[in-house]
Amino acid sequence: MKTFVSLESALPAARKRFASLFLAAGVVLVAASAAQCDPKKPASVTDGKYADAAGNPTYNISPDGKVDWYTYSGFLRYNSECLRCHGPDGMGSSYAPKLVDSLKTIDYPTFLGIVAGGKKDLGAGQEKVMPALGDDKNVMCYIDDIYIYLKARSDDALGRNRPTEHEPKPKTWTEAQDACMGPG
Ligand code: HEC
Repeated sequence: MKTFVSLESALPAARKRFASLFLAAGVVLVAASAAQCDPKKPASVTDGKYADAAGNPTYNISPDGKVDWYTYSGFLRYNSECLRCHGPDGMGSSYAPKLVDSLKTIDYPTFLGIVAGGKKDLGAGQEKVMPALGDDKNVMCYIDDIYIYLKARSDDALGRNRPTEHEPKPKTWTEAQDACMGPG
């Protein structure tokens, strides 16, 4: 009986030890997943195309400023397809919103939907229209590139102007481009 009692009284102490062990493990786990969830660090890469933890396309920028190919390509495509309304470097114009700010709240699927389907706020006297570009191959074949570039700008991972250095152009990027643009 005496043994039983002392076991009983020893239990809470043992539980406490276990609890603090679990707590310590928990802290380590939280720290590890916080590092994984850093929005500026990609979670995976396939053929030079980076993705975040949710599987959405994202950028990869080295400390020396070298960007992934998609970010670089997105800069070029943004300049030819979006800049005339949205201003240089995604900074906005008197006509169209500053996409550097928009992408802080607009996620990847919403972005695709707006670019493909267009947008017109129905405010009084609002005449400004985001055209539906879903049939424009010069936009849609490079839409991930443009998103990735704007996301980097929006996260403040990339400054203004043309990125000076970039990763090599992946073969799969060229293949996807050729398939999307079609002959001619
Ligand atoms: C002809 C001018 C024009 C062009 C070209 C254009 N846009 Fe727009 N865009 C607009 C206008 C105007 C709005 C605001 C529409 C509204 O809110 O009613 C807009 C809105 C948007 C929005 C939503 C922003 C927000 O904060 O709600 C996104 C995203 C966007 N454009 C992306 C693009 C991308 C990417 C390109 C290039 C592929 C592009 N646009 C090309 C004029 C343009």
